Amino acid sequence: MRLARDLEHRPKADEDADGFEADIIAGLSAHPKTTPPKYFYDEAGSALFEEICGTPEYYVTRAETALLQSVVHELVSSIAADAVLVEFGSGASDKTRLILDAAPHIGTYVPIDISPDALQRAAERISRDYPALRVAPLADDFTRAVALPAHVGHAPRVGFFPGSTIGNFAPQEAIWFLRSVRSLLGVRAQLIIGVDMIKDPARLVAAYDDSMSVTARFNKNLLARINRELRGDFDLDAFDHQAIWNPTLERMEMHLVSRFDQLVHVAGHGFAFKAGERLHTESSHKFSVESFKALAVSAGWVIDRYWLSSNPEFAIFSLTAPA
Ligand code: AVI
Repeated sequence: MRLARDLEHRPKADEDADGFEADIIAGLSAHPKTTPPKYFYDEAGSALFEEICGTPEYYVTRAETALLQSVVHELVSSIAADAVLVEFGSGASDKTRLILDAAPHIGTYVPIDISPDALQRAAERISRDYPALRVAPLADDFTRAVALPAHVGHAPRVGFFPGSTIGNFAPQEAIWFLRSVRSLLGVRAQLIIGVDMIKDPARLVAAYDDSMSVTARFNKNLLARINRELRGDFDLDAFDHQAIWNPTLERMEMHLVSRFDQLVHVAGHGFAFKAGERLHTESSHKFSVESFKALAVSAGWVIDRYWLSSNPEFAIFSLTAPA
């Protein structure tokens, strides 16, 4: 097995814990209360996200996979021999296989994910199934990864950012992130990015409030994580999951709504919730071709090509970094 170096750049456990505590205390002290979506992805949250992807209502994964299958040969046609494929937020690395199958000349795969256990398992499966590929996993918050493992060298780089995770950033954060990806990957790099399109609000709301309540469990798992890791006393039954379409900001929003007046403690701090008060846990921005092009161009990328699924439901963009 060629697992280049295990879990390189893994932040120390106490650094992680300090960031989590500071972000949650700041978010619960804000008006309105809010928490960063990256903290959904502990072990249980990552498993629940995989389960969401299989629900009948969450069309995103199926739409992207089908589109990727139909365009992958065109998509990889410009990838150079021995290129380095860098995936941001790699999760189970399932969609990556479509690219690796179509482009066996890729030399190195760098999956970056915040969940070290899930990353390790996914990296081992990829190494087993693609024995000629060097796999160099990076356990880090992909929004702050500033350097690739040193042994990756100077081969041409291709970024892969599927799942419309770009939509989880506020627009200005998305621009900053795309700029930092451009400097991480370097000149003439390619970035393959999946983008969910604006569509019927009823369809969107169903995707984020599925009938089996998997998304509700995913949302409330954040409270369970806060209880466990930050000495919290959230009562999960005292909050309702809510998914709403915000037409002005063109985004789906997830909230946890307090059922009654209550006082919650986290890491020694008290937070009062009024009945009906919302904790905003996630935004998923949706795009038109024009709005995504404008975002990518503001971050200094050049639009190479894009492909749309029918309706159009989902888009895959290929961007290039100018020389
Ligand atoms: C990871 N991310 C793109 C998902 C989304 O659609 O925003 C996370 C998710 N939240 C609820 N369902 C799925």
